[in-house]
Amino acid sequence: MSDDALSNLLQENRSFPPDAAFAKRANVTAEAYADADADRLGFWAVQAQRLAWDSPWHQILDWSNAPFAKWFVGGRLNVAYNCVDRHVESGHGEQTALVFESESGDSRDITYRELQEMVSQAANALQGLGVEAGDRVAIYLPMIPEAIVAMLACARIGAPHSVVFAGFSAEALRSRIDDAQAKVVITADGQFRRGSAMPLKPAVDEAVAHTPSVDHVLVVRRTGGEVEWTGRDVWWHEVVEAASPEHHPQAFDAEHPLFILYTSGTTGKPKGILHTSGGYLTQAAWTHWAVFDLKPDEDVYWCTADIGWVTGHSYIVYGPLANRVTQVIYEGTPDTPHKGRWWEIVQKHRVTILYTAPTAIRTFMKWGEHIPDDFDLSSLRLLGSVGEPINPEAWMWYRRVIGGETCPIVDTWWQTETGAMMIAPLPGVTACKPGSAMRPLPGIGAEVVDDNGAPVDPGGGGYLVLDEPWPSMLRGIWGDDERYVQTYWSRWPGEYFAGDGAKLDDQGAIWLLGRVDDVMNVSGHRISTTEVESALVSHPAVAEAAVVGATDATTGQGIVAFVILRGTPQKDGAELVAELRDHVAHEIGPIAKPRQILVVTELPKTRSGKIMRRLLRDIAENREVGDVTTLADPTVMGLISDGLSSSAADD
Ligand code: WTA
Repeated sequence: MSDDALSNLLQENRSFPPDAAFAKRANVTAEAYADADADRLGFWAVQAQRLAWDSPWHQILDWSNAPFAKWFVGGRLNVAYNCVDRHVESGHGEQTALVFESESGDSRDITYRELQEMVSQAANALQGLGVEAGDRVAIYLPMIPEAIVAMLACARIGAPHSVVFAGFSAEALRSRIDDAQAKVVITADGQFRRGSAMPLKPAVDEAVAHTPSVDHVLVVRRTGGEVEWTGRDVWWHEVVEAASPEHHPQAFDAEHPLFILYTSGTTGKPKGILHTSGGYLTQAAWTHWAVFDLKPDEDVYWCTADIGWVTGHSYIVYGPLANRVTQVIYEGTPDTPHKGRWWEIVQKHRVTILYTAPTAIRTFMKWGEHIPDDFDLSSLRLLGSVGEPINPEAWMWYRRVIGGETCPIVDTWWQTETGAMMIAPLPGVTACKPGSAMRPLPGIGAEVVDDNGAPVDPGGGGYLVLDEPWPSMLRGIWGDDERYVQTYWSRWPGEYFAGDGAKLDDQGAIWLLGRVDDVMNVSGHRISTTEVESALVSHPAVAEAAVVGATDATTGQGIVAFVILRGTPQKDGAELVAELRDHVAHEIGPIAKPRQILVVTELPKTRSGKIMRRLLRDIAENREVGDVTTLADPTVMGLISDGLSSSAADD
């Protein structure tokens, strides 16, 4: 983040204390902080009692093999039983669990009893396909109820799932299936997006042609489009819907792997972040209950994330369902069939809690407040934000236009790796400042440190670190313990390095400032610069590529690529740039398509050959180019800017 943005943030001194009526009914009080301060592990042991355990644990935390943690050692539980069956057993079988809303406007309610039957059938079907505890299952599905059912069915039989966002390419899917050696892939024939049916299965066919680990592809019929069929394919409606709706949930160890979720790191190869069962579910459930003030008998909750991201895992599937939520899930995009679609959904289902990303809020700001103003949003009582820093203007707009000046806004900082929220206000307790995630949640240790790992003073800036293990922490990177230790635990001894810059204000509130590594955040999605660079250089016309994330008013960051071509291009510039953008979409997925590709003849490098992205960012953000003294060839920046005025750029 630029120095300007930093000093603007520091001038932000508005603060919104909790509303007295809200505070009176809030699930948590300030005592939660005191309890956790007095006995951090004891605090988490109390929160673990929110779950039903088959056998109790005998140790809260085993950190003797740090940074490989074990929480609730010796305890056994079934995660799916905790999210579904026990609510039926406690007399809530008729409560709606999922309100599924499709883009075209038809909705379907699924009760906890129905969910129990669906999950049991899917669990039986997966076992029928030879899936056993410990086997990996890849899930490549749109936002339909079957996606949640598939995840819970895997959890129920102890088969770790690896959900791959359905917007990722065949190649991205292939590498993830391969890394996890998945045995089964669950997908759909297609999905509805912006009013049309888009095929999904061809990408799976392309991927599994090169993944010998896959025995079966289980296909949900969603769009009814034509699909190619092979001997390993089976229809969901044939095997799942024909299976018995009864399934006995076996208990697994608290540290049994629950899922792998791939996320971008600073190299081209995505990291398979591994989460396990008891600690993960404890923190996902507790934070969902405390930070959203969830009242299971009253609230209608809606998290707009996709199950392909960690927010969909922790705050659509595991946390909310463990808390017996009633929630909306939505398959479509915010602007189809019209730009008021989200607000229409809030009005139709009387949504009380809304959890979304700053990029969406900024898009709505751009569309204009007359759009939400046409709908009755009075049911809303709490708003959440996640995925990237929320700028104070967007925070204030969210509060005023969507929250009617009354809803508390919880800005929640966390990561795929942390599994659950780490830094966030507690509604009814914390006074909120627009743009700040405020302070670590009870039971969480976080600090802002300088280059030497020393905590900064109030008013200072540095790096965010987590200095205590937490229940939902990642247990490692799938198949690569060394990379886990190197990436997160090697910068300062005993501290988890999150990769984010942060600032402490005079009152000790934390302001997140974005990534400090080579990871971009585009519309709340993590994409590494190296990943896009590798995709670009895999095109025959490209000799070298450097990618930076440039500040973007709507998406947070936009991807800007600088490429050096091989030899003399055969095509005209604009045509080649368009082809390169499509090539990146094909290699990674449309979310990684560069906003802009600039053809250059040189790249700025240090004497050791490292690309100086800082200088490229200056160009991408139309700033005067900064200090070039460490460049191997200081004239190169002039060459780039001269060349740019004549080269093809694409919007
Ligand atoms: C960023 C998403 C500022 C941050 C849950 C982090 C945020 C990365 C916030 C993780 C927030 C997430 N304020 N930045 N409230 N929430 N981030 O793994 O840079 O997709 O490291 O997890 O998103 O992204 P991930």
